[in-house]
Amino acid sequence: MCGIVGYLGRETAQAPLIDGLRRLEYRGYDSAGIAFHEGSKFSMARETGRVNNLAESVQKKCSPASLGIAHTRWATHGAVTVSNTHPHLSYDDKFVLVHNGVIENFGALKRFLSDKGIDFASETDSEVLCNLIAFHYSELPEGENRFVDAVRQALPQCRGAYGIAVLCLDYPDTMIGARRGSPLVVGLGDEANFIASDASAFVGRAKEAVFLNDGELAVLQANDFRITTLEGQEATAVTHPVDEVSEEVELGDFDSYMEKEIYEQPMALQNTLLGRFGDDGTTSKLGGLEGHEDELRNLDRIIFVACGTARHACMVGEYLIERLARVPVEVEHASEFRYRNSPKAGKSLVIAVSQSGETLDTLEAVREAKTKGLLTLGITNVVGSSLARETDGGVYQRVGPEIGVASTKAFSSQACLCAMLGLALGRMRDLSPMDGQSIVEALKGLPDLVSEVLQKGEQIRELAIKYSKAEHLLFLGRQSLYPVALEGALKLKEISYAHAEGYPAAELKHGPIALINPDCPSVFIVEGNELSAKTIANMQEVKARKGPVLAIAPDGIEIPEEAADDVFRLPDAHEVVRPILANLPLQLFAYHFARLRGLDVDKPRNLAKSVTVE
Ligand code: F6R
Repeated sequence: MCGIVGYLGRETAQAPLIDGLRRLEYRGYDSAGIAFHEGSKFSMARETGRVNNLAESVQKKCSPASLGIAHTRWATHGAVTVSNTHPHLSYDDKFVLVHNGVIENFGALKRFLSDKGIDFASETDSEVLCNLIAFHYSELPEGENRFVDAVRQALPQCRGAYGIAVLCLDYPDTMIGARRGSPLVVGLGDEANFIASDASAFVGRAKEAVFLNDGELAVLQANDFRITTLEGQEATAVTHPVDEVSEEVELGDFDSYMEKEIYEQPMALQNTLLGRFGDDGTTSKLGGLEGHEDELRNLDRIIFVACGTARHACMVGEYLIERLARVPVEVEHASEFRYRNSPKAGKSLVIAVSQSGETLDTLEAVREAKTKGLLTLGITNVVGSSLARETDGGVYQRVGPEIGVASTKAFSSQACLCAMLGLALGRMRDLSPMDGQSIVEALKGLPDLVSEVLQKGEQIRELAIKYSKAEHLLFLGRQSLYPVALEGALKLKEISYAHAEGYPAAELKHGPIALINPDCPSVFIVEGNELSAKTIANMQEVKARKGPVLAIAPDGIEIPEEAADDVFRLPDAHEVVRPILANLPLQLFAYHFARLRGLDVDKPRNLAKSVTVE
C-alpha cells in the first residue's frame, strides 16, 4: 500500500509523476504529495484526499524541474493530515523522502534523534527515517559517496518494512531507492529513469524494469543506474520489458474499474485457461508445477495461505481439491499462519494465493513455510511480483491488471486455478479419466457461462434497488458456496459500508437467526445438488420470521414460492464452476448497491489495493 514514484530525466518531472500517481492511486488514497529538486531548494505540494487535489496545487506551488519524487498514502502512523503526507523533508531541509511500509522501531529511533536536538514536523515513522539519513549525512565527510553512504548507514538501523525513494539537495542528478519487504522497481527509459512501487507507474514511459530484491539499493542518474546490496556489493540487475498494458488500464466505456473488471471476466478466464489442458483432454497442464510431479503425487497435506478475497478463493479450492484429489486441505489466514506452531504433518505443500503478489502477510507466511522446509507454490496475477519470485513454483492468473480495490476478476481466476490444480492432482492420484474429461469440458465452457450470467446484469440492478435500504444483510451457502457467501458479504461491506455477514446456511439457526427481521435480508446461494432441499428449508426458517429472502439458484432447482421473495437464476453447471458462477451476481449486487448510495466503488474508504504492511 502507498504508491511511490520518482522521476529523473530530461522532461519536467510534473507530468510523469502526476500520471504515475494516478496509476498508483489504487494503492492508497488518503493523501498525496510531491517534491521537486529545484537546485537550491525542494519545492513541495501535499494535499489530503485524491491525486486530483494535488495536481491543482502543484500548478500553484511548484516550478518545472526534472527530478522529483511523489507518493500517494494509505495512513499507517499518524492521521490523514497534510503534515503526515509524504514526501517528508528532513530537519535540515537537505533530504526529501517517500516511504512505503512500517518502521517498527521508529519510536526508539525518534528518541535517539530527539536527544540530538532534532525536531519533527509529523507523527510518521517515515519522517524519522528521513531525519536519520540526514543525521548520518551530517556526520560523514564530504565526498562522492556521502549521499549513498548516509542511506546505507541509516537503513540497517530500521526494523520493519520499507520501500523508499530519497533525494538530497547536494546531488541534483541522483535519486536513491531501496527496499526491504515493500516492493520497488526501477524503470529504464530513453534518457529518463524511474523508481516506483509498481511498474504500472511508468508504463508508456519506461522500456525496461528491474525489480529490486530485499536488501538492495538503486542509485539512479538520468542516463545510468547501479544496483548494489546495502553493504555496497554489486547486485545483478535483471531487466524485464515493460508490458504495453496501457490500454488495459484505461476505463473505456465503463464508469468504474470494478464494473469494467466484472464484465471482463469471460475474457479474463479465457486467458487463465488458455493452453492449460493436457493433450488427452482429461487433465490440466500447469507449467509452473513442472518438475514437482513426484512431490505433488505424494503429498500428505496442502495448506493454503492468503488474505481477504484470495482466501475465499482458496476455501473454494479446499472443497474442490479434497473432492477431486483427496488430499487434506487447510486454509489459513496468512497473517495467522506464521505465528502458529502448526505441527509438521508429513509432506505438506504450501500454496500462497495473492492477486498482487505483494501482500506482506502472505509473503511472510511463505517465508515462514520455507524456513520450515516446506515446498511452496504461488498463484498470483502480477508477473515478477515478490510472490512469484519467492515461491518454488507457481501459476500466473493472466487476468490483466486489477485496478478496482474490490477484487472481482481475480477471485474468479483464482477459484478456476484451484479447480485446475485439483484436477491435475486428482489425475496424478486416483481421479478417473472420465471424471477428468467432464471437468475439463466444464472448465472450457466456463467463459461462455460467465457471459450468460453477466448478460442478466440489469436484473441484479433491480434487485439491488429493491434491497438497497438494508443496513444489515446475511449471505448463506453450503459447501463450496459457503466461501461464496463470505465473499458476497465482504464485497458488499467493503464498497457499500452496509453491514453484511457470511455463514454456512445451516449455521444460521445456531445464532445469526436472531438478527432476522423485516429489515434484514438474507441472500441464499443454493446448491445444484441434493443439499439444496436443506438450504430451501433454511430459507423457509427465515421467511417464517418475516425476513426477506433473495435466492441465487441454478435453473434446475425448484424454489417454492413461499421460500423466497426473489430468485436469480444461474445456468445449471458442473460443481467445479458453480462457485464462480454463483459469485457473479453477488459482485454485481454489491456494485449496484454501492453505486445507488453514491459511493466510489473503486476507492472505498480506508482500503488500499495492495496491503504491504502486516
Ligand atoms: C477484497 C480485497 C482484499 C484482497 C486482500 C488480498 O475485495 O481485494 O480482501 O483480496 O487484500 O490481496 P492480494 O490478493 O493482492 O494478496
